[in-house]
Amino acid sequence: MDDFVRIVEVGPRDGLQNEAHPVATADKIELIRQLSLTGLRTIEATSFVSPRWVPQLADAAEVYQGIDRLPGIAYPVLVPNEQGYDRARAVGVDEVAVFTAASETFNRTNTNAGIDESLARFAPILERARADGVKVRGYVSTVLGCPYQGEVPVSEVVRVATALYAMGCYEISLGDTIGVGTPRKARAMLHAVAAELPMSALAVHFHDTYGQALANIDACLDEGVRVVDSAVSGAGGCPYAKGASGNVASEDVVYLLHGIGMRTGIDLPALAATGRWLAARLGRDTGSKTGKALAAT
Ligand code: HMG
Ligand code: MG
Repeated sequence: MDDFVRIVEVGPRDGLQNEAHPVATADKIELIRQLSLTGLRTIEATSFVSPRWVPQLADAAEVYQGIDRLPGIAYPVLVPNEQGYDRARAVGVDEVAVFTAASETFNRTNTNAGIDESLARFAPILERARADGVKVRGYVSTVLGCPYQGEVPVSEVVRVATALYAMGCYEISLGDTIGVGTPRKARAMLHAVAAELPMSALAVHFHDTYGQALANIDACLDEGVRVVDSAVSGAGGCPYAKGASGNVASEDVVYLLHGIGMRTGIDLPALAATGRWLAARLGRDTGSKTGKALAAT
């Protein structure tokens, strides 16, 4: 089995979308500059959602225009609808991510639309993206539980993931948005999706609410997944997912991966230093145990 794991760094978007205090545009640009020097190949830069819904990322265009896009690194952005796609394209974005959920109530709370309605919204985006040569990633949220509905049937996760893939998303990220999953459940969910879609088109996205994220990732690696989403310093959470803690910290994921003999191409001390820099800018300690441990050595 291939031992290379691609980390999709979502800190600048999923991390910063949930900050209570505004983060300066210049700091967002600096964060992406530092991340770009760590060996990461994918850095989700920002989100062209409604600024009324997520004011934290209202400066998406300025951020995207302010970053130096290094060769060999993809800088996707989140778009919820064609308006977001237009705004992204206007500043030269060449990879986007669309997002829906496996839970109807969560999707309504997050995007003011039902699941099928949001899939219908994505159809013209995917059509235009194909014509524009823009890559599209798809997210499915609440794959292991919903803050409003509780249990989410695996069959719904499979249905939504399959629909996004059939529409043309090159990769589907399966998100435990509120971090309630445990390893066997996570692995079973991935197994069910991988029965319908190629494993090479799947990614996992864990939040660490109950401290299970690394164990879940390890279980999903055993199942064969080779793309993992994470956020430097464990930043973030979803503003529409009550009680959800931060994303799993990229530094901790990289420490795990290198420790079990996987390759990432990432310079762990450099990533950890970036995580500590971000935490200091946000006025707190890094949310990564690896980041803390490396600072002490
Ligand atoms: P809506 O209010 O139903 O939108 O929101 P609308 O189409 O009725 O438009 C209302 C107003 O918003 C209009 O302005 C539009 O122009 C404007 P007005 O005429 O009233 O002045 N508008 C926009 N402005 C800028 N950019 C846009 C845009 N769209 C509309 N793209 C909408 C629907 C989907 C837009 C809204 O609900 C939204 O933006 N939601 C995003 C919420 C969000 O970003 N959540 C976090 C990301 S998902 C997540 O974190 C999970 C994930 O990380 C995976 C995981 O962790 O599991 C992916
Ligand atoms: Mg997330």
